[in-house]
Amino acid sequence: MEGGTKVSAEQLEKELAELLDRETFEPPEEFAAGALVSDESAYAEAEKDPEGWWAKQAEALDWFEPWDTVLDESDAPFYKWFAGGKLNASYNALDRHVEAGRGDRVAFHWRGEEGEERDVTYAELLRDTKRLANVLKDRGVQPGDVVGIFLPMIPEVAVAMLACARIGAPHNVVFGGFSPESVKERMEFSEAKALITVDCARRKGKVAAIKPDVDEFLGDVPSIETVVVVRNTGADVDMQEGRDLFYDEAIEAASEDCPAEPLDAEHPLYVLYTSGSTAKPKGILHTTGGYLTGIAWTHRHVFDLRPDDDVYWCSADVGWVTGHSYIVYGPLVNGATSVMYEGAPDYPDKDIWWELCERYGVTLFYTAPTAIRACIKWGIEYPQRHDLSKLRLLGTVGEPINPKAWLWYWKIIGGERCPVVDTWWQTETGAIMISALPAVVPAKPGSATRPLPGVFPAVLDEEGNEVPDGEQGLLAITRPWPSMLRNLFKDPERYKETYFSKFGDTTYFVGDAARRDEDGYFWIVGRVDDVVNVSGHRLSTAEVESAIVSHPKVAEAAVIGQQDEDTGQSIAAFVILEGDLEGSEQLETEVREHVARRIGKLARPKRIIWTADVPKTRSGKIMRRLLRDIAEGRELGDVTTLREPGVMKDLEGKFADSESS
Ligand code: WTA
Repeated sequence: MEGGTKVSAEQLEKELAELLDRETFEPPEEFAAGALVSDESAYAEAEKDPEGWWAKQAEALDWFEPWDTVLDESDAPFYKWFAGGKLNASYNALDRHVEAGRGDRVAFHWRGEEGEERDVTYAELLRDTKRLANVLKDRGVQPGDVVGIFLPMIPEVAVAMLACARIGAPHNVVFGGFSPESVKERMEFSEAKALITVDCARRKGKVAAIKPDVDEFLGDVPSIETVVVVRNTGADVDMQEGRDLFYDEAIEAASEDCPAEPLDAEHPLYVLYTSGSTAKPKGILHTTGGYLTGIAWTHRHVFDLRPDDDVYWCSADVGWVTGHSYIVYGPLVNGATSVMYEGAPDYPDKDIWWELCERYGVTLFYTAPTAIRACIKWGIEYPQRHDLSKLRLLGTVGEPINPKAWLWYWKIIGGERCPVVDTWWQTETGAIMISALPAVVPAKPGSATRPLPGVFPAVLDEEGNEVPDGEQGLLAITRPWPSMLRNLFKDPERYKETYFSKFGDTTYFVGDAARRDEDGYFWIVGRVDDVVNVSGHRLSTAEVESAIVSHPKVAEAAVIGQQDEDTGQSIAAFVILEGDLEGSEQLETEVREHVARRIGKLARPKRIIWTADVPKTRSGKIMRRLLRDIAEGRELGDVTTLREPGVMKDLEGKFADSESS
């Protein structure tokens, strides 16, 4: 069989438009029939005894020593889970599968950008993890020392993380697309003792030097005593005597004997820097026992994973929390077979993802709404070139998904037979928090649906009172959960201030606005810092964007609040049109009216700027801050994390044109 659903673009447009009015999508029958969780009992059980319920899930891990207490709240908001217990993340991810005779199972079908393929088994991962752990130990890395990792999407990145976990050295992975300046900053903040990196990285047929860039700043980070260099392209690079080692040579010489260190449940597993509302990134600290409990349970049950049969693919980069939890730790702890892809979604062509789904027989696919919108823009011919019939579940993460993208994903990629789980969570939460259990909870496109068992969110007003259903408020989590962050690295004050000052020590402040509907479904509106106030009406930029994007001629939109003499703030929308369409006055009116229809007149953008691109971070998030800078005529802030820095010049021009027109 070829392709999923074959329809003409025109026919599809019509069918999708009709679907926009459909509110709920029941779990597909065939899927539901064989699903892991097939009834509501988990919700009831967790509601009655949340700690007992989580403790039961923690038993799915291998513990060297049992815990004494499930949850210690005595020092809230510094919570402890499974205190007294001892375990090791790399043992749970690797050894236990190998010991159970599953060493030959493929952990990663790795695919390089130029079409190279490597199947890495659990046994191979374990062998290399042990050897690299010994290399780090030989270089004096002790439990508690931070090790930086700056690697592309190659199997060695998993080895590096697991080697750190094995010896209790928290890793600090920096996304491969970050600038050297950002890497330096993160190494400085975390006082990293070693750094694992590559000679060069590849992107869309080009090679970028990494090691020489890293060398430029290493002098400024005296804590780094060791640099391990993976030969990725084999380019000639300078190596500093006594400090730098080639990965392949080092592990070749190292012993394969390295028992996993029994670590406290609260031993730090990693620090991961993420952007906050201020310029200084926050070092989110995750520990071992609770984190593994959370990611293992959610990965297995949200994705309905059957490790013996499924082929799972999360298209994120390992440098983000999604990669930590749902490329490395979750899938490996669960003994899954995954795809790991080095490259871009449009190289060598725009069908590469679907080619890989067909080639490896991917059954579970997890990606971001922004990627789905890109695919919509490229057209249905790309997925239609491939057989996607093995897929049985689709997931999204990272931002609210607009119903149009949800429907397209469900219909074109999922062939109307796969549930789509919209998973809400954060770097801070460690694991998925709000999402359907796919066989039990019907989907409503645009809603992450209900909290998972053992998770207790609420929508509060500024004073901390619950707002009535249907009204927008601040999302909060009212009970601790095992995979929650434990601290900000070496900054407990900022931890308390950021998350536990607004509603007190026992209620986690999320930073998102949300509303809950009468069915108990959560609708995430967006970050509270992206709220626009038009004539006293609070509007979310994400909500307006979703409305604009649901116009059939629109591919993508970014909305900001602009100072406005009359209304306080007004909405400016940067709009990317579908295909070759060009902006016109008539289209402006159409889009405004469309928004008025979907949300209300007050949400109509005052200003529309047609553009071919908007500034995005390398993880695909629109950087509204930069759009606001343009709109307010300010000097541009930091553009170094942009995927395409060139886009800003173009936009400044367009904005000026639209102002004078
Ligand atoms: C947003 C990514 C709506 C949200 C795992 C959150 C979402 C922030 C969703 C965290 C979703 C993530 N629906 N919004 N399904 N998933 N978000 O730390 O605003 O990179 O606070 O973690 O992304 O982003 P982070």
